[in-house]
Amino acid sequence: MPFMVPTYVRPPPMFHKGEGCYLYDVENREYLDFTAGIAVNSLGHCDPEMARLMAQQAQTLVHASNLYHNPWTGSLSKLLVEKTKESGAMSSVGKVFVCNSGSEANEAAIKFARKCGNLADPSGAKHELVSFQSSFHGRTMGSLSATPNPKYQKPFGPMVPGFRYGTYNDVAGINSLVTDKTCGVIVEPIQGEGGVNVATSEFLLALRRRCNEVGAVLIYDEIQCGLARTGSLWAHSHAPAEAHPDILTTAKALGNGFPVGATLVTDEVSSKIVTGDHGTTFGGNPLACRLAHYIVGRLSDPELQRSVLDKEQIFRSRFDALRRKYPDTIAEVRGRGLILGLQLKGDPTPVVTAARERGLLIITCGTNTLRFVPPLIITEEEINKGMDVLEEAMAVVFRSSEKVPGTDGQQEMRAR
Ligand SMILES: Cc1ncc(COP(=O)(O)O)c(C=O)c1O
Repeated sequence: MPFMVPTYVRPPPMFHKGEGCYLYDVENREYLDFTAGIAVNSLGHCDPEMARLMAQQAQTLVHASNLYHNPWTGSLSKLLVEKTKESGAMSSVGKVFVCNSGSEANEAAIKFARKCGNLADPSGAKHELVSFQSSFHGRTMGSLSATPNPKYQKPFGPMVPGFRYGTYNDVAGINSLVTDKTCGVIVEPIQGEGGVNVATSEFLLALRRRCNEVGAVLIYDEIQCGLARTGSLWAHSHAPAEAHPDILTTAKALGNGFPVGATLVTDEVSSKIVTGDHGTTFGGNPLACRLAHYIVGRLSDPELQRSVLDKEQIFRSRFDALRRKYPDTIAEVRGRGLILGLQLKGDPTPVVTAARERGLLIITCGTNTLRFVPPLIITEEEINKGMDVLEEAMAVVFRSSEKVPGTDGQQEMRAR
């Protein structure tokens, strides 16, 4: 593609169509999608009701700017607050800022934390932000500065000043890391890009306590792990109520593929933000908010959330079988719900390629981790079908002499 800035290495298939858990390339080959557009398409591709609402809203009002009210920004904000409270997560949530992406949601969170710090200490000394190794918070300069990965940061230095980095799940290190100079701490309850690493409740609780001690805001980045992916609306629901954050960021599944993000804050944080402090041209437009309103409603369904945990068990039993088969190659399984990581001892890229060639899309993360973030609507049959393909791909790559159960030679990609 000679006219595109080469920011990504893209393998051969060009996708032109999606339906449910499947994508179709331009030759109409079918691919089962265990990636969901990187934890985005939780309701699957081209959800029919979403498509209907999109067409309807596109014929009604797409954008009128944030200079005026529209029926949907407020409705989405209200629904996010109500469903968050109902879910038992972030009990003190009160207000929402709607934007267009995960990076922007974090950018708002970082700015709000800075504003809180500057109000608490007008000298400007309380401006430090703390994040953790292996985290991923985005590509804009603020969110990138919170992402201590040399691969992403080095070409674009210097970073925004005032960022400090700690070790994920290191409770002992928190006191020296988070100090009176800290205005905010940002952490993913489950690190996605960093390798599907799960924060312990002890770690989140200790961060919360230390933030209270020094007067810093605690930000949970649930852009990848939130919105029902762990079997409850927010991933931090698994930690005790005392570990709830002051700010929660979301995006990805919020639009099921349509760009939208949101920063949920307590009334206390909101009270520090005044007109003109922050803004966005597109954020909160009626089309995005109408869609997100529908999607949040669907993802709040307790039945869907329960099914996520059942599906996790199906994946885990298949992973256990793989580990028994390849004890020297597969080190461990991590994650919760339908954000799962299979830690390999070597490079998983050949497995990803072999799976894709056989009609299964899967992605990696961290160091040598295979990441499973399928649509939440995936069926048991689809999970098993995808796992059969993965097992076959591993058999080919690892040159196992064993016969792979459930497959009969190389599976052809079915044409539609
Ligand atoms: C945890 C987390 N935060 C932030 C982001 C950035 O979101 P976006 O790519 O929408 O800017 C991502 C994207 O992968 C993410 O996984």
